[in-house]
Amino acid sequence: MLKQVRNLTRSYGVPESWTLRVSREQGGYESARKAYAWPAQQIIDEVKKANLRGRGGAGFPAGVKWSFMRPHPTLPAYLVVNADEGEPGTFKDRTIMELDPHRLIEGCMIAARAIGAHAAYIYVRHELHLAKERLWGAIREARDAGLLGENPLGSGWAMDVQVHTGAGAYICGEETALLNSLEGRRGEPRIRPPFPAQAGLFGCPTTVNNVETIASTPTILELGGEAFSRLSDLHHLGDGGCRLFGLSGHVQRPGVYEACIGLTLRDLIYELGGGMLPGTKLLGVIPGGSSCPVLRPEETVDAPDQKSVLHPWHGMSVLDVPIGVDTMRELGTMAGTTCAIVLSDRACPALALQNIMRFYRHESCGQCTPCREGTGWMERIVDKIVAGTATIEELDMLYGIASNVMGNTICAFGEGASMPMLGFLRKFRKELEQHVRTGGKSSTGRLNA
Ligand SMILES: Cc1cc2nc3c(=O)[nH]c(=O)nc-3n(C[C@H](O)[C@H](O)[C@H](O)COP(=O)(O)O)c2cc1C
Repeated sequence: MLKQVRNLTRSYGVPESWTLRVSREQGGYESARKAYAWPAQQIIDEVKKANLRGRGGAGFPAGVKWSFMRPHPTLPAYLVVNADEGEPGTFKDRTIMELDPHRLIEGCMIAARAIGAHAAYIYVRHELHLAKERLWGAIREARDAGLLGENPLGSGWAMDVQVHTGAGAYICGEETALLNSLEGRRGEPRIRPPFPAQAGLFGCPTTVNNVETIASTPTILELGGEAFSRLSDLHHLGDGGCRLFGLSGHVQRPGVYEACIGLTLRDLIYELGGGMLPGTKLLGVIPGGSSCPVLRPEETVDAPDQKSVLHPWHGMSVLDVPIGVDTMRELGTMAGTTCAIVLSDRACPALALQNIMRFYRHESCGQCTPCREGTGWMERIVDKIVAGTATIEELDMLYGIASNVMGNTICAFGEGASMPMLGFLRKFRKELEQHVRTGGKSSTGRLNA
């Protein structure tokens, strides 16, 4: 069900929303004041009650992740905020940094206090120039106002926030590649264990969270964990609160919207997004960034088993299922970053797939052979499909290549590249086959995605 709220986006649209003055007028830093008066465990318990699932893609419960942090006798703990936001179709975190950077700083104060850290690093994608400027400005203001430094809010809990600029590699959004990059090393994922909570940044206990995850914590402390969780229709599945939903592609009103979890793809596309572009019909939707398998509007939910998470929507269109971490997983796709990419019937699935595969081949860091070789191989075959020179055997071969990349790499990039491929093969087999049989002619239009 569509329930729009203004928690994360409270200040959006207010003139100079990025300044400390406006942040304070909107109640900024009141939750941090609370956090500094509480023991760390109380903050963690509240975030657990909130059922805040990570907003960076994997949906891991934030409170649980924080509870993995154990005080070390000699080493400091660190909070690292993942602001790399490189997933195609995903552009929600930048709005927080550009329009309400003080919310992110306040979230850093809360999270750092909970995990026992005195320093937070925000790793920002190089291209997000305005986000960096606004963050630098907000950190300066917060330091000058005594919100950061030796004695924030008179708490005695020293705290500082630093911005680190990446160089624009998608792999540096993967949390362990990000840590390597932050240390000045090559941005390649690390083998786990050890996990970051054991040995992360500079070998110290570290929590890595997405921008939106951290920026949600002031609202949790403001409303209370339980009340935050209950904003969501899926709180019984441990998926609480409200979140940002992005929308791009062939819709009338692409953008970033805040809503309670429970929103469906139909709500997102037709209500918030104003529907498809004039004269077009929905061909497919990728629910949460390019790594998620595509869904088609004709698909219905097949969940006769009452134990299935999807049972309440059995027989209904996939567009009417609330977008949640578990509901989308059961549908065979992912909520990911909840930034949907919409394809109309004027788009060519082969060209859309080519676009996606070009990205993954280009961004593979090359450390693992299946990913380095597999992404290039898949791209070459898709290029041939588009050019009309591929064979049906090569189309079939794509299943094998994608399946062999999955699960055989150090990090989840391999899955990120293979899942959209397998999704397109399953959902657009007829269209891709037609491309092969007709020498590159598309069954739909050629409006690229
Ligand atoms: C290839 C790749 C790229 C990623 N890019 C991002 C990113 O840009 N931002 C992000 O928050 N998480 C990204 N992630 C997920 C992170 O590894 C990590 O799970 C996340 O930052 C944890 O934060 P959360 O629990 O708050 O979601 C990426 C993962 C992979 C495998």
